[in-house]
Amino acid sequence: MSKLWGGRFEQTASEWVDEFGASIHFDAQLVLEDIEGSIAHVTMLGEQHILTADEVAQIVAGLKTLAKKAQASELTFNVFHEDIHMNLEALLHEEIGPVAGKIHTARSRNDQVATDMHLYLKRRVLETIEGIEAVQTALYDHAAQNVESIMPGYTHLQRAQPVSLAHHLLAYFWMLERDKERFSDSLKRIDMSPLGAGALAGTTFPIDRHRSAELLGFANVYPNSLDAVSDRDFILEFLSNASLLMMHLSRFCEELILWSSEEYRFITISDVFSTGSSMMPQKKNPDMAELVRGKSGRVVGNLMGLLTIMKGLPLAYNKDLQEDKEGMFDTVKTLQGSLSIMAGMIQDMTFHTDTMKQATERDFSNATELADYLTAKGMPFREAHEVTGTLVRYCIDHRLYLAELPIETYHAHSGLIEQDVYEALSPVTAVKRRNSYGGTGFDSVRTQLSEAKAKLPTNV
Ligand code: ARG
Repeated sequence: MSKLWGGRFEQTASEWVDEFGASIHFDAQLVLEDIEGSIAHVTMLGEQHILTADEVAQIVAGLKTLAKKAQASELTFNVFHEDIHMNLEALLHEEIGPVAGKIHTARSRNDQVATDMHLYLKRRVLETIEGIEAVQTALYDHAAQNVESIMPGYTHLQRAQPVSLAHHLLAYFWMLERDKERFSDSLKRIDMSPLGAGALAGTTFPIDRHRSAELLGFANVYPNSLDAVSDRDFILEFLSNASLLMMHLSRFCEELILWSSEEYRFITISDVFSTGSSMMPQKKNPDMAELVRGKSGRVVGNLMGLLTIMKGLPLAYNKDLQEDKEGMFDTVKTLQGSLSIMAGMIQDMTFHTDTMKQATERDFSNATELADYLTAKGMPFREAHEVTGTLVRYCIDHRLYLAELPIETYHAHSGLIEQDVYEALSPVTAVKRRNSYGGTGFDSVRTQLSEAKAKLPTNV
């Protein structure tokens, strides 16, 4: 067997060199996109009278046979042919004979591989958006049930002010909404055809790049052939959007891990998404949440990897670019897995709203309420802060909470405090009343819920 470029070479590469240079182990995943790209290219060549109608018919029929075989996992690829493009050309040759060699007229593997990846990523991004929506729906469903469930809100991981559980869950909903927007926005840069850019400089054949783009369903065509074959921004953007998404999922997982611990007891993660210990019989570990948190690391790593590959590359194509694929495939797989795990795990999760509520009653997260109460009665906020701080210290010294202080003690600190202070100190009141737009008050959260619902597909 000789290489496609055999004419120029005297010696053949050793097997281990072929092995090192090959990408077929991973770019075989692009088989259907590659065939699709070739069919569009050849169809356009026929329309432009660069190939005859008969040649086009033979090539397209051969490619369709290969697509069927690929779907039935009947194709065998060979490292000798290095990548998916040359493997398919060799297989097409076996299928239809020498006319297969015409497929590469006015095309290079450089525009071919870029086309494959644009086609591939466009589909994966649409699937990612659906995957995000499934997680959002799971969050939304719990939020809708828990507007009036209250829990401690934290800053510095210290109890700060009580919040509605729905409000906390919806915070993640909005992070995911931004992720969705970023992925959708990236589509216009993915939805571009590099096909027909040739190796780097275009071609002398009278091709119609807009037509092949149209046949492939691309909305646009790269206006510069050098850029078309060497641009990987669309993959970097995907990896960057994926990193942000994974970072959001990872933050939520961190909370789920904490909340499911004995220290919190805020939630129970269902058995389906937990594992036991091989040694400690009592253990039930939040492994899936930990894995999603962990996998965010590899996605960020994939982003760093490709950025580093790209930063020193002169125009146009360089073989370094073959290294763009594994991180992309790995990220796609990681996102698919993480999003389905998250959707299922959230759906099946039990929230112990009684424990959450009790937690808000055994802390000082209502101190701001007392300061606001005094401020509402005319005391300057700074002074109210001071009086409240003194009362909190008094409570700590006497092992009490603010709601347990007798009215006499309050009177001793400020004549403004009356019996109604106890109502103001109740955590439910504290949450219920925070109805500034975007706040945790029950009415505000209901408004937020309807805004969230409008972002979801209509079947929710
Ligand atoms: N397998 C190659 C890649 O993934 C295809 C393009 C090869 N082009 C070349 N001039 N060697 O990048």
